[in-house]
Amino acid sequence: MANIDYNQRIPNNVDLASDRRLQRALEAWQPAYLQWWRDLGPEGTHEIEVYLRTAISADVSGWAHFDYVKMPDYRWGIFLAERDPERRIGFGDFKGEPAWQEVPGEARGTLRRLIVTQGDTEPASVEQQRFLGHTAPSLFDLRNLFQVNVEEGRHLWAMVYLLHAYFGRDGREEADEMLRRHAGDPDKPRILGAFNERTPDWLSFFMFTFFTDRDGKYQLASLAESGFDPLARSCRFMLTEEAHHMFVGDSGVSRIVERACQVMREHKTEDPRPHGAIDLPTIQRYLNFHCSVSLDLFGQELSTNSANYFTQSLKGRFNEGKIDDDHKLKESVYPVLQFAEGRIIRIEAPALTAVNERLRSDYITDCQRGVDRWNKVIAKYGIPFTLELPHRGFNRAIGSFAGVRISPKGTVLSEEDWQRRRDEWLPSDADRAFIVSLMGPAVTEPGKMASWIAPPAKGLDDKPREFEYVRFN
Ligand SMILES: [Fe+2]
Ligand SMILES: [Fe+2]
Repeated sequence: MANIDYNQRIPNNVDLASDRRLQRALEAWQPAYLQWWRDLGPEGTHEIEVYLRTAISADVSGWAHFDYVKMPDYRWGIFLAERDPERRIGFGDFKGEPAWQEVPGEARGTLRRLIVTQGDTEPASVEQQRFLGHTAPSLFDLRNLFQVNVEEGRHLWAMVYLLHAYFGRDGREEADEMLRRHAGDPDKPRILGAFNERTPDWLSFFMFTFFTDRDGKYQLASLAESGFDPLARSCRFMLTEEAHHMFVGDSGVSRIVERACQVMREHKTEDPRPHGAIDLPTIQRYLNFHCSVSLDLFGQELSTNSANYFTQSLKGRFNEGKIDDDHKLKESVYPVLQFAEGRIIRIEAPALTAVNERLRSDYITDCQRGVDRWNKVIAKYGIPFTLELPHRGFNRAIGSFAGVRISPKGTVLSEEDWQRRRDEWLPSDADRAFIVSLMGPAVTEPGKMASWIAPPAKGLDDKPREFEYVRFN
């Protein structure tokens, strides 16, 4: 059951061959997908060989196989985590009932919307990152970028499969739309704001994979609780791939921080910029930006939509099964920060309408662990500097803090103060120009690193750091 059949045009572990109509529909979508990859996937990469991992089974252990692959030949397919025939719904009004194998009629529109919103983010990030290969700091990093890209492509496949298999004609139309909206397109943008921003440089890329892919982890984890079992199983398998994306961001930022510290020590200077490394205050400003736009992805602090998703047993909380409560939330409350009458206040909101906020809080806790790891690197060099997550009201465009001026420390500011100090807290035009100026042509000599990043702690798949992770031939 868990093994993936690679003898088919569309590799899968859902016995696609037994449903000819669905198989034909997906085979008809496949050329459009490949065309999209060629047009808007990583630019100028169609002939090179990349040492990529491909899923061979959906088991937790040993699912990955590594080999050189030309990316357009990557075997994108449909892989769901194994079905637990005993699985019961863990939350909401349908708690305790057997998980649904078909879409419940009354939840059809809502569920489709959830799947489309998740699916739309996947190809968006590939589009956002399509030029980064030209400025990769090493072959190791180039490979990691491409691994993230092909897996985001596969995540699109995961959602498109659900749309085709369970939502009839509407689903097929939504699947087509996924390839018609594009990141940053003024006429047909991607659905969520953060997925229309550009990812113009590698500091942004690592921050994106740390913060924005981590939002993905939390969204997928709450969808992995869904009463609709095929969605839950799709998301469970996607989470195993997502872990690598966050590793790329976490370790990438850590190596940039390390390089900054090395240069500061070596040259006995506060400012590593003249030596081709990125200074810690600039890293902090990029962190502030990517954290705040990613916090917006969790939506309104108080949301009746999210309450309905929960009540309808469609989208749960992070680690729902490990939470010690009634999993229905009709009575309980949850603390929520709000902006009211010119100040930040804490209210006790009905837990049901605050599920977004709870997910955002879980996410912030997780982000903080990463920031703590980066700070350990700085401390190792004895440099008195601490990276910090900004206050959750900082630079927000969605929810109670939208448009309110709040400093990273959580002080409410006048518009004038904000304008005066903005460039201390967010990347300025000069910062962006400096970072872009560091992004030289891709470093393609095995084992070599750009000036602004330390080597990785170790290579991938037990290979040395000098391994030829990408072959240009
Ligand atoms: Fe993804
Ligand atoms: Fe991802």
